[in-house]
Amino acid sequence: MTNLANDFRNHWMPYTANRDFSEAPRLVSDGQGIQLKKTNGEIVLDAVSGLFCTPAGLGRTEIANAVAKQLETLSYVTSFQHGHGKSFELASRIASLTPGNLDHVFFSNSGSEAVETALKIALAYHAAKGESGRTRLVGRERAYHGVNFGGLSVGGIARNKHGFSLSLPGVLHLRHTWLDENRFTQGQPKSGVELADDLQRFCDTHGSNSIAACIVEPVAGSTGCLPPPLGYLQRLRDICDTNGILLIFDEVICGFGRMGTNFGSDRFNVLPDMITMAKALTNGAIPMGAVAVAGKIYDTVVGEAPDKSIELFHGYTYTAHPVACAAALASLDIYESEGLFERSAALETPFLEELFALAELPLVKDIRGIGMLGAVDLDSDEAVGKRGHRALKAFFDAGVLVKMTGDTVILAPPFISSEADLGVMFGRVRSVLEIL
Ligand SMILES: Cc1ncc(COP(=O)(O)O)c(C=O)c1O
Repeated sequence: MTNLANDFRNHWMPYTANRDFSEAPRLVSDGQGIQLKKTNGEIVLDAVSGLFCTPAGLGRTEIANAVAKQLETLSYVTSFQHGHGKSFELASRIASLTPGNLDHVFFSNSGSEAVETALKIALAYHAAKGESGRTRLVGRERAYHGVNFGGLSVGGIARNKHGFSLSLPGVLHLRHTWLDENRFTQGQPKSGVELADDLQRFCDTHGSNSIAACIVEPVAGSTGCLPPPLGYLQRLRDICDTNGILLIFDEVICGFGRMGTNFGSDRFNVLPDMITMAKALTNGAIPMGAVAVAGKIYDTVVGEAPDKSIELFHGYTYTAHPVACAAALASLDIYESEGLFERSAALETPFLEELFALAELPLVKDIRGIGMLGAVDLDSDEAVGKRGHRALKAFFDAGVLVKMTGDTVILAPPFISSEADLGVMFGRVRSVLEIL
């Protein structure tokens, strides 16, 4: 008979303290709405939408039915040189939600792959324009763009990069936008717009014609909710325009209503050249990511290639998988019919009130929040993440699911939550922070 510890060794869990997990596993067996059920029957309230991906809640029968039907009708067809109707329908539904003329959608299976795709499209665009010298990519400190080498290279969360020394050549990082003077700001901080000028400095130092693209999350999510300083994103846009650089918004978290608008781009009224998305695209039910691309990019890459030839040598076996498309279409139907993006906007004030009420607790060093996304930095005199790890376990024991990054608590409740639900979630968060 295999012992329990060995059973846990077979699945090498991601971003997990595997040895510690196997000593006291946090396992759930069921999920409905905003509730998860532990294997011992206790209920955990989901205060982070799984991992920012289930705004419409768990166990949605509309998605289950669409997936089941698709599996019976057409469970797979390659998207290389062939197709199925649902991917075109989904692309046009996404294009109806994306801002400006970001109307061309390339599908992937995750946020990480969406980022890789966007970076490659940026390079392909400049090459097609005859500017193949534009190979530098610009990211930002404290950014999360997934775990593949492109995203890791432009990403800026130090711990994720350490130990994986291979990085794309020539990548530069803007400074992050957390400033001490902005602590406890609700929404966008007033100071920090000048941090965007780092991009102009890179152009001055390295030559603007060496830079292909600048990628940022409109609100940095995984590092602990860093809303952009007022005017910051517009300044990045202006510098990109002046210097012929593409601007990519990584909206894997901000997209699909998290900011109370279709995309973060709408909330901040700044139009990028590409938007990456994933997570809520299928309400977390089936893996899927995508990049929405501006017309000028699509037209250049596709238009410049020789007739009848493949224009972009890129794609995944599961690009535009029919089952993922079915799940995404059902999810978008739910968002629309239940007005969930509007509901997210309406919940922002009560959510932020509950969040910032935690400021009175002695352990709390800073709070940031915008839309339905917020973070609480915990004070600690131990090694980074030690207190956070204890907190993670205590939250689960107290019946609330959050995301911990180091010593930062991140919250992003589903949009189907009621104000009363938010009250219970925050009551549980508070009860843990009072005794930690
Ligand atoms: C902004 C951003 N980009 C990319 C990713 C990577 O997405 P995935 O984990 O689906 O690969 C994430 C994941 O949290 C993210 O928040």
